[in-house]
Amino acid sequence: VAEVKGGEDQGAAWVGKELTVRGWVRTCRAQRTVTFVEVNDGSCLSNMQCVLTPETEGYDQIDSINTGASVLVDGVVASSQGGKQKVELKVSKIIVIGESDPTSFPIQKKRASREFLRTVAHLRPRTNTFGAVARVRNALAYATHKFFQDSGFIWVSSPIITASDCEGAGEQFYVTTLLSNSAEGGCLVNSIPSKDGRVDWSQDFFCKPAFLTVSGQLNGETYASALSDIYTFGPTFRAENSNTSRHLAEFWMIEPELAFADLNDDMACASAYLQYVVKYILENCKEDMVFFDTWVEKGIIDRLNNVAEKNFVQMSYSDAIKLLIGSNKKFEFPVKWGLDLQSEHERYITEVAFGGSPVIIRDYPKEIKAFYMRQNDDGKTVAAMDLLVPRVGELIGGSQREERLDYLEGRLDESNLNKDSYWWYLDLRRYGSVPHAGFGLGFERLVQFATGIDNIRDAIPFPRVPGSAEF
Ligand code: 4AD
Ligand code: MG
Repeated sequence: VAEVKGGEDQGAAWVGKELTVRGWVRTCRAQRTVTFVEVNDGSCLSNMQCVLTPETEGYDQIDSINTGASVLVDGVVASSQGGKQKVELKVSKIIVIGESDPTSFPIQKKRASREFLRTVAHLRPRTNTFGAVARVRNALAYATHKFFQDSGFIWVSSPIITASDCEGAGEQFYVTTLLSNSAEGGCLVNSIPSKDGRVDWSQDFFCKPAFLTVSGQLNGETYASALSDIYTFGPTFRAENSNTSRHLAEFWMIEPELAFADLNDDMACASAYLQYVVKYILENCKEDMVFFDTWVEKGIIDRLNNVAEKNFVQMSYSDAIKLLIGSNKKFEFPVKWGLDLQSEHERYITEVAFGGSPVIIRDYPKEIKAFYMRQNDDGKTVAAMDLLVPRVGELIGGSQREERLDYLEGRLDESNLNKDSYWWYLDLRRYGSVPHAGFGLGFERLVQFATGIDNIRDAIPFPRVPGSAEF
């Protein structure tokens, strides 16, 4: 359907041509002499309006042509009389492939709330909103690869199971699989603690605690230290017990790592990347973007156009604190140099202080940032940057990395992290260390930002959040 209706002429060039459509029935309206069946095949937002008459082969199955049923429709493309679409399909033959009981099909014609649709996540891609989110998400992923590939970055697969905690925040999901020495030898038993209640790691599959990765960065740095610019793009996991509209337990992250680069190069890359993917969907997902603009967040197209065109504001963390204090606004969380910015502060900065422009904040106090960030000459701050956007808050977190061995060891000690387990990461500073920098972008937050969808649970097909891993 996208091939027919997606062109500039909305299908006019197809008039008179034969066409077969396979898809799912959205609605079926019977009038006296003709029946209109709206069929959607997922390739685009538009349905194909299929016009049936009593002469249509398969017309005797009309009682089975219900919302949700799958059908195959053969016909000829014709100009449509109705104002809603340029073309429709005059149907010669219709076959119902899979019936759908209209009394129990959970997604009826009336607009269902997104809360309700989360409870039927297996069927929600059949709705306009979730079809559009899936297509835009796909386009953002494609544009991500295109941007980095065209800029000479190499895509690196970082491991999902790891023994290192990149962010040092202790938010990992453990992967414990004990090997039992049964007579059959080496069968796997999940998570059996020893008699005193502790896991005996010598019996474990990995012989040490292993977790699902919170970030591919440390592994990415090893490849950047050999291949120069690289990026990772894969799933990451965090056991943050926060029920917010911006956190998932399983989310996808894009993590470029630039060799021979500093924080300014990093910020320039982040800005160029974000502008590229925003432009890409505005140009390539027009129909879906108009849908979001009409039904999900009014004005989003104009706002994204602005993001694509204008330079982003940059300011230091210290200036951001001054701005927040100077605003005299009552925030729920305290504002003070040394404390992390909360989402209400981030949103105030982008939405109110800078009227909806993305803002990059740099040079955060070292105490509130991860151990690997490069210490600035003031001894108090690190070369970190967060890119904030309206509604979503922090979209990107990045930094220049500490490439000096002695500083890095000092930071590991200060952070109470075990140096021994980072031996390979420290080796990068022993053998051919280079200044390098990178960032991580939460892909679902990008989908939220680009579509106007307000809850991150609707930006991924099957959200994983505290208390729920259904589907
Ligand atoms: O700021 P974070 O924790 O940074 C890192 O993980 C670095 N290792 C990245 C790097 O420099 N290579 O996370 C990066 C981004 C955040 O800005 C946010 O967009 C997203 O990941 N993110 C989440 N998205 C959804 N659910 C969560 N629980 C998220 N936690 C972080
Ligand atoms: Mg962060």
